[in-house]
Formats: sequence, structure tokens, C-alpha cells
Amino acid sequence: MATTHSNRKNEHLSLATKFWRDQENPVIGPGFDAVRWVPGPLKNSAVADVQTTTQILGADFTWPFYIEAMTGGSSASTKVNADLATVAQKTGLAMAVGSQSVALKDSSQVESYRVVRQNHPEGFLIANLGADHPIQNVQAAIDMIDANAIELHVNLGQELAMAEGDRRFYWIDNLATVIAKSSVPVIIKEVGFGMGPDLLKQLSALKPAAINVGGANGTNFAQIEQRRDRQNENPLDLSPFGLSTVESLLAGQKAAINSPLIATGGIQTINDVVTALILGAKTTSSAGHFLQVLMTESPSALQKEITNWQQALPELMTLLGAKTVADLSQVPRLYRADLQNFSDQL
Ligand SMILES: Cc1cc2nc3c(=O)[nH]c(=O)nc-3n(C[C@H](O)[C@H](O)[C@H](O)COP(=O)(O)O)c2cc1C
Repeated sequence: MATTHSNRKNEHLSLATKFWRDQENPVIGPGFDAVRWVPGPLKNSAVADVQTTTQILGADFTWPFYIEAMTGGSSASTKVNADLATVAQKTGLAMAVGSQSVALKDSSQVESYRVVRQNHPEGFLIANLGADHPIQNVQAAIDMIDANAIELHVNLGQELAMAEGDRRFYWIDNLATVIAKSSVPVIIKEVGFGMGPDLLKQLSALKPAAINVGGANGTNFAQIEQRRDRQNENPLDLSPFGLSTVESLLAGQKAAINSPLIATGGIQTINDVVTALILGAKTTSSAGHFLQVLMTESPSALQKEITNWQQALPELMTLLGAKTVADLSQVPRLYRADLQNFSDQL
């Protein structure tokens, strides 16, 4: 029988697909189109010389994008995870699974996560839990999928938007303990509300392996939770809250932190990936867009989408005079007035 927790997983999948970048969602801050790439001097170059590899989490990622955490914990999600992992395996991408807390409580759900390791045996896989989980749970989640890294989500906005969500957030000391004791690199991540400079500085001081800024204008959990809450019992309106992904990346520059940044939130084209890398992200990841292609089209359509990105990336890097992903952070750029205004106010 499906549990409440499993039902929530299924509702997230269907609502995230149905309302992916819905016109009615509030737009929070400037998006990727607020950054333009300025042509630089000609260089002796060839597309074949470009290296798309990026170093993060103690590994070399062949591509600076991966499939971000979405699901697991229900029978519908087993199929989605299986399909995503097969596409990740065929395209050489890393992949994160959705929160594993349901499988820590109900062992019958473990399979919905393990299928990812089965289908992507050599892949770089990222486990996922909330920031309140003790180190024992973190280790169990890592072991469940033989993970290479773990993400801990700091999703205050999502929890408050959920009628049944947490209302106690004693996270900071626990994050410090988990980072100190985890057997694999730890990422701290937002899920779509972004991060400002003070939060980034605070999290960076905990010395995680990376911080995922998880900015707005992609999957919008405030809207998703509102649509799940059919009785509309939660009066919270979060529309003024949050930063877009590009704003969060500028906040990262301003904060001048040492932690490598991962950009997630509304990334749906290879151009968005390039812009995020120009703004200093070490790598990027996408959830909603990949899910949308998978669910409304097919696994082979998602594979094609990713191979298109893989073909375009070295060409775009050549255009921008970047031989490596790190070179992209030097590309001259122009900010639209609203983004420049944000930058000035920081
Ligand atoms: C259906 C769905 C379920 C998600 N579940 C999780 C989760 O369990 N844990 C987590 O850290 N993030 C979760 N996310 C958030 C994504 O990992 C990502 O941070 C967020 O969706 C922003 O990226 P996007 O705009 O590319 O979707 C989920 C996203 C979607 C679409």
C-alpha cells in the first residue's frame, strides 16, 4: 500500500512536470537571459582542443552538468529513477537521487534508489537527505546506492510551504558534524529559493565539498506545495522570497568564499549552463527540465537532448575562447539593468 510519504513523491513528480515553468509562477529576479556574452579577441583554437572536464567533489566530471536530485520512494519513482540512470549511464553524466529518508523508514522503498546504481554501475552517484539527518542516516543513505558524494538539502522555504513540513530547523551544528564525519564529500544544497552572500559565507565556513545555490525560476516548490495542499490550509505566500540562480552566483562572487559552487535552478539549455559557468559555477545540474523531457517525451528524447548539449558545449567554448571550463569564468559579460542593479545593491 502506498504511504503518505510515497504519495507525496508521486505528486511531486506529476506536479513538477505539469507546472514546469508555468506562466503563472512568479518570476523571482533576473534569469539566465540577463547575461550576455561579449565577443573576445580571436585565438588559435579548435573545437577538438576544448576540454569540457570539471574537477569537483574530488573527481573529474567529463561534463559540467548532471541530473539533479528528484525522486525515489514510490513505485512510480522506481521507473523514473531507472530511466534517468540509464540515460545518465549512456551519456556519461553524474546523477543525484531524491531524498532517501522514505527508504530509511521503509526498507521496501530501498529498491527505488538502488536501481540507480544497478543501471549506472560505474557512475558518479550522489545520495540525498535533509540537513537534519544524523551521521548514521547519512552513512546508510550513502551505502544504499554506494554513493560517491551526498547532498544535504537546506529547504526551509519548501518545508514551510508544505502543510505537513518541518517547523524546527536545528541544522547548523548537525551539518558541521556530518561534514566532519562523512565518508564521502558533502554538498549543501537549496532546492529553488537561492542563496544570499551571508548564507553562502555561513555554509562555506562549515567547509562542505561544494555548495549548490539552488536558485529560483525553475522548479517552484512554493507553487507545487500549494497545489498539493488541496484544502489550502497553509496561508503562506513566498513570492517575495528568494534569489534567482544568476543572482545567487553573483552573491557567491561577492561573498568571495572558497567552497566550489554548483548552479541549479531553471537550467534548461546548454546556454544556461555556459552562463552559469561564466558566473563562476564549477558545474551545474538540472532537475525539472530533464524530468519534463523524460515524462512528456521519452528516455531516448532525454538522451538526445543531453547529447545535443554535449555537442554544442565545445563549440560554444571555442566561440568564447575558453579551452577549459575554468576559462569560462574569465569571459567578458554584460549584465542587464536589473541584474546590474542587484549586483550594485549587494
Ligand atoms: C520532482 C522533483 C523532486 C525533487 N525532490 C528533491 C529531493 O528529494 N531532494 C532534493 O534535494 N531536491 C529535490 N528536488 C529539487 C531539485 O534537485 C532541484 O534543486 C530543483 O528542482 C531546482 O532545479 P530545476 O529548476 O532544474 O528543477 C526535486 C525536484 C523535482 C523536480
